[in-house]
Amino acid sequence: MRSEFCGQVTEQYLDQQVEVCGWVANRRDHGGVIFIDLRDHKGLLQVVVEPDNEAAFKIADSARYEYCLRVTGTVRNRPAGQTNDNLNTGKVELVVDQYEILNPSKPLPFMLDESAGENIRLQYRYLDLRRDQMQHNMRLRSKLTHALRHNLSQQDFLDIETPILTKATPEGARDFLVPSRMQHGGFYAMPQSPQLFKQLLMMSGMDRYYQIARCFRDEDLRADRQPEFTQLDIEMAFVEQEDVLTMAEDLVRKTFKEVMDVDFPAFPRMTFAEAMRRYGSDKPDLRNPLELVDIAEHVKDSEFKVFAAPAKDPQGRVAVLKVPNGASMTRKQIDDYEPYARRFGARGLAWIKVNDKASGREGLQSPIVKFLSDDALNGILDSNEAKDGDLLFFGAGKYSDVSQFMGALRLKVGEDLGLVEDTWRPMWVIDFPMFEYNEDEKRWDALHHPFTAPVGSVAELQDNPGEAISKGYDMVLNGVELGGGSIRIHDQAMQSAVLELLGIDAQKAEDKFGFLLEALQYGCPPHGGIAFGIDRMAALMCGQESIREVIAFPKTSSGSCPLTSAPSEIEADQLAEVHVQVIEKETDE
Ligand code: AMO
Ligand code: AMP
Repeated sequence: MRSEFCGQVTEQYLDQQVEVCGWVANRRDHGGVIFIDLRDHKGLLQVVVEPDNEAAFKIADSARYEYCLRVTGTVRNRPAGQTNDNLNTGKVELVVDQYEILNPSKPLPFMLDESAGENIRLQYRYLDLRRDQMQHNMRLRSKLTHALRHNLSQQDFLDIETPILTKATPEGARDFLVPSRMQHGGFYAMPQSPQLFKQLLMMSGMDRYYQIARCFRDEDLRADRQPEFTQLDIEMAFVEQEDVLTMAEDLVRKTFKEVMDVDFPAFPRMTFAEAMRRYGSDKPDLRNPLELVDIAEHVKDSEFKVFAAPAKDPQGRVAVLKVPNGASMTRKQIDDYEPYARRFGARGLAWIKVNDKASGREGLQSPIVKFLSDDALNGILDSNEAKDGDLLFFGAGKYSDVSQFMGALRLKVGEDLGLVEDTWRPMWVIDFPMFEYNEDEKRWDALHHPFTAPVGSVAELQDNPGEAISKGYDMVLNGVELGGGSIRIHDQAMQSAVLELLGIDAQKAEDKFGFLLEALQYGCPPHGGIAFGIDRMAALMCGQESIREVIAFPKTSSGSCPLTSAPSEIEADQLAEVHVQVIEKETDE
């Protein structure tokens, strides 16, 4: 239907006849001459329809936004002064010989060159995807998956698909369930990841597996979480942690070079403990130079109980975030950070302005200086290398709470003060604890998943589960958890011990993972792997805050699809076929 793409008709086609197809991005009527910006996926071309071409003129006169056209014409230079340097085709225009409306368009629900609400964008996603930014995002994502596949297949990784209708795999979220028609009362669970299948593939001698896999998790949604999302899932046999880290780092480095033409610096490795201590987060954004400093030793004997109690408690933490030159903040600016910190679990946010260090406590401005001795104040200032003009924020409480709210504050202050470097800072977080204690349920939870191997023996693990370190690792890029994985348990006794510590008794373990426990007993090779969030990787590459911007047809934060209206009700007879009955919603009366 076309000889060229709109966006590629440049001076090289001068005086030639071309045929292009596209959509009306804009139409201007200049005293009898009609100008149309015709758009396809390669860009815009200015099309001119002159009144002496009566047939074409009549049709062009009726064309409106997003009409789909086919135009045959001759390329000529634009008149002097009317060129557009921003366009590839900006020096030329196409004078129409023949003009055909392939399909008209209804008036648009929103203009494609203006911003629009997310709901309406998703309802008319096929229009939204016509926008330049979305075209760019989708094309970049395709380039990304192509680069990943290409690199992995060159390294002998096999692309193997695993079931979507399956049994629950625990990744910490709720399962999406699918009722079975043939097995009355039976349900499939959609996979939260291909975790167990990829382990079985290693036991099957496939050696190296990858899959661009859809994962399904029924959890609360956020900007970086969708109920169905895509992983680059990888598993390797006969490997140790170092092998997986090297392979994954190399893959990500090559991919960013190919897709973005950026060279990554070395990936620093940081233990989970160090990441929490310095950044209050297990996914530190290293572009932000601010760090937390622990000051418990200086305040443990203070009369200020808010600090002294957590300082003395082994589970407690008292930490400072130093804001260089922050003393110039107004009282209101400082006070506004407290409600922000509270949203992340703070009970208060003490602070000290260092106005004039040489004058001792007189040179400090703060609601808490009166509670602290000279020694304590000196210790705090010294350990933070505080200078005149600095501001110190204080967080005190449970270790995990303080890390969380001070970590969030660190990000916020860094952003507000424009301290975040515009660059790429990848890293590894390693040496995660094996378990975290679940206070509500009074039991251990796995920090990665229950198939992650611990460092050490079964006996060591059982003796002190709280101290056990796992062979798990996360790749973090600019504060985003890009991927996570681990060396797996390949021994049945260890797997049973871990499940037991997680409160899954032998019977339940047999019901849920019997097939895995059985498979582990037939010469299972040591193995490990990793999975990357492709949506997150694409969003970072596209400079988008939300992964919805890089997914063609995403769900809203309430898990619905405004385009198709899913999820929707199902008629009773169809439900009966799958032996399901809906319980009426309870009304609050
Ligand atoms: P994990 O649960 O850490 O590991 O997931 C791996 C990566 O997937 C991305 N991700 C998500 N992206 C969008 N929406 C979500 N709801 C979502 N959840 C996770 C993140 C994350 O780092 N089976 C293990 C991997 C392994 O051990 O090999 C797993 O799924 O970028
Ligand atoms: P109070 O004596 O409770 O009025 O607290 C004095 C100062 O300490 C106030 O600035 C509070 O914001 C701050 N503060 C209270 N609790 C904490 C906490 N857990 N961590 C940090 N600062 C706190």
